[in-house]
Amino acid sequence: MPMIKLPFLKKKTSKVKQENIVSQDNLPEHVAIIMDGNGRWANKRGLPRFAGHKEGMDNVKTIVKVANKYNVKILTLYAFSTENWKRPKKEIDYLMKLPMEFLNTYLPELIEENVQIQTIGEFDVLPTHTKSAVQKAKNQTKENTGLILNIALNYGSRYEIVQAIKKLVDDIDKQDFQLGDINEEMFGNYLYTGDLRDPDLLIRTSGEIRLSNFLLWQSAYTEFWFTDVFWPDFNENIFKKALIDYQKRKRRYGGI
Ligand code: FPP
Repeated sequence: MPMIKLPFLKKKTSKVKQENIVSQDNLPEHVAIIMDGNGRWANKRGLPRFAGHKEGMDNVKTIVKVANKYNVKILTLYAFSTENWKRPKKEIDYLMKLPMEFLNTYLPELIEENVQIQTIGEFDVLPTHTKSAVQKAKNQTKENTGLILNIALNYGSRYEIVQAIKKLVDDIDKQDFQLGDINEEMFGNYLYTGDLRDPDLLIRTSGEIRLSNFLLWQSAYTEFWFTDVFWPDFNENIFKKALIDYQKRKRRYGGI
């Protein structure tokens, strides 16, 4: 049988391939992720919600590795919000055990990958076992110079802003500076994120299209990217899609 040439088909395949490649230019340095959909992921499989959280926890390690591969410098993950205390006690207890479990399982590998652990959020009120596991990991990785894994634990952006204002007013009272000295950069330094670069790209999984009190100040000029995929299923390919979309965006910061 004679071969039939279909050059138009060939062309299409190579275009698809090209679109799947993340170029090294214009990659986001700081990626923030709202890891949503653990409960629905579990529900879909007839599993209890905590099984989704466990799978979500394991996926954190996978995505840290992927982020590292694509040269991301800071990865901020929303692990527990100030609003999550409204959940049933059993689920809260489970969620509070996850940082310890995560670090017990993966800290040696994270250290090997030169990852530095940081956190944002109201740390002092966390259960002792959560605090001590996280604090130990922070101490052990503080000299690491690779990716910053910034875990938002008991984090709420409005609370963060109010706390920053209180501290600022207190510092004015102590006459550290005057009202007229306050500017955006200075105020930003009072937030949990301190002098960390603002997120370049913010991803939310599970089809919800809102910020849920996450990084409100810091995301003023962040590019947003949403996917219907539940967090435990979020993988390298989907991350790549987000990066490729990000690379096509024109960030103008209000300019032209
Ligand atoms: C939201 O999904 C997810 C959370 C509240 C917890 C996220 C935590 C992890 C992914 C693991 C944390 C890992 C570390 C390293 C601390 P949901 O439960 O609201 O899902 P649903 O909307 O489908 O119910």
